[in-house]
Amino acid sequence: MSQLQGEVISPGVPSSNMGSYEEAYKNFQWEDVEKQFSWYVTGKVNMAYEAIDRHVDAGKGARVALQFSDPSREESYTYEDMQGLTNQFANVLRKYGITKGDRVFVFMPRTPELYVSVLGTLKVGAVVGPLFEAFMETAVKDRLEDSGAVALVTTPALLPRVKREELPTLRTIIVVGDEVAAGDGIVDYKKEMEAASPEAEIEWVNREDGLILHYTSGSTGKPKGVYHVHNAMIQHYHTGNVVLDLKEGDVYWCTADPGWVTGTSYGIFAPWLHGVTNVVRGGRFSPADWYETIQKNKVTVWYSAPTAFRMLMGAGQDVIKQYDLSSLRHVMSVGEPLNPEVVRWGMKVYNHRIHDTWWMTETGGQLICNYPSMPIKPGSMGKPVPGIEAAIIDENGKELPPYRMGNLAIRTPWPSVMRLIWNNAPKYEEYFRIPGWYISGDTAYMDEDGYFWFQGRIDDVINSSGERIGPFEVESKLVEHPAVAEAGVIGKPDPVRGEIIKAFISLREGFTPSEELKAEIAKFVKEGLSAHAAPREIEFKDKLPKTRSGKIMRRVLKAWELNLPAGDLSTIED
Ligand code: PRX
Repeated sequence: MSQLQGEVISPGVPSSNMGSYEEAYKNFQWEDVEKQFSWYVTGKVNMAYEAIDRHVDAGKGARVALQFSDPSREESYTYEDMQGLTNQFANVLRKYGITKGDRVFVFMPRTPELYVSVLGTLKVGAVVGPLFEAFMETAVKDRLEDSGAVALVTTPALLPRVKREELPTLRTIIVVGDEVAAGDGIVDYKKEMEAASPEAEIEWVNREDGLILHYTSGSTGKPKGVYHVHNAMIQHYHTGNVVLDLKEGDVYWCTADPGWVTGTSYGIFAPWLHGVTNVVRGGRFSPADWYETIQKNKVTVWYSAPTAFRMLMGAGQDVIKQYDLSSLRHVMSVGEPLNPEVVRWGMKVYNHRIHDTWWMTETGGQLICNYPSMPIKPGSMGKPVPGIEAAIIDENGKELPPYRMGNLAIRTPWPSVMRLIWNNAPKYEEYFRIPGWYISGDTAYMDEDGYFWFQGRIDDVINSSGERIGPFEVESKLVEHPAVAEAGVIGKPDPVRGEIIKAFISLREGFTPSEELKAEIAKFVKEGLSAHAAPREIEFKDKLPKTRSGKIMRRVLKAWELNLPAGDLSTIED
């Protein structure tokens, strides 16, 4: 199945937090991790306290918690600063009646205010809902409506995308900007923060109380709200230790946006639970700026994604030579398959192994990874995190032997597994349909050394640049365009982005195919839903393949695209 099986890259750095993988795996107990937190005794917890205030109480308040830069700002905040600011924000929320269990959404670009809002929200016991800044009207509305959000933090530029009149539960909108016209449910962030006390009571919650609600895509239906609880911090802390290998004094940079789960579990929680300096860079991707970020901040631990590494690879070696990247100690990747070629390139140009990690929004934290102390087989996702049992199983729950492809499954439970799909119990139960297992929806196989190898998705979910896109959401938007009769959307393989979104469209009577029309339709999705969900390629067809019940057969579209046999067509319309 893989010609790469023989290729192994030995550990470059012998000293890591975990030491021998086999020993760590064998001796691991979740209780040993839990006991590191004082709440293990009381049962009452708050993520924001553990991530920020705990370090101040331990005399480490002067350390830099957040090192922020974007093209217009360069700021650093100590743990003490963050404590005061998040308390102030908690007080602002309390003033507007926001309490435990309420859903508070954050919809803004990566700025210090975003991080303050997330942690301040947690301090009052409310549940955070992060929204990616590229979301447009429909995407924003679907998520706020489904969750019954009562408050939203946003910016003047993004505010017009929020259709307040259609969102009856949304009482308060906190706007982070220079001249905010407050009143009528609009609150001026800056003014309120200035007036708020930097001292606040933390709302102590139970470990099973809500932490964060991340909307993500499946192959059918609207995006679903994946609900995580404070107990997830055990997984965040543990993987921060054995996977991120965080040590005192580390400067850590996770390139993901908090609109996605990597940007919260590993862009907020894990690094701050470990008290390290968290680098956040706003603005657009640029190889020179990225290397500059590493050089300037002396980044030691770097967590990014295959698309980014492929783009850096495409930018060539000359740009790398202009920067001093010698601070780097540990490099990781997540979100899509990490090509062996990229791992080899990483060895050559950074002299570092890029450690692939596998997990999902639903899993809340990393599950299958490569570790600093373990040999890497390029192309493999690695081995289960200590405390996690992974297997390849068939539809009956039978474990399959090495090299047999099947469902990648995880033994339930583990600390950070999702606790709910908001408003959708049947969807939630689908993941646990085989007793004792969580079914990921990914297919994979395991080799004889226990390394897992990703093969694909079981469903039609598209992974473009590590961003997960539901074809249904895109199709629904497409058919709202006056020219579109029917639409079917697939992921088309792409050398840089992994997959791109391709739409097959049949037009309504009276419309003629043209390049202008394609551009107009793509723009319609971009402006109505979001840029990353807009099809990069459109093909017009007279008719789309459908089942007799009228469902568009994406699998046939995919076969057309890839010039493959279309498989079983017994359910096709005519
Ligand atoms: O298909 C797998 C792919 O991304 C999916 C999860 O997407 P999301 O919930 O957006 O979370 C992404 C970041 C945690 C998975 O079902 N995926 C994630 N990591 C990898 C991967 N595919 C291959 N290799 C990986 N390391």
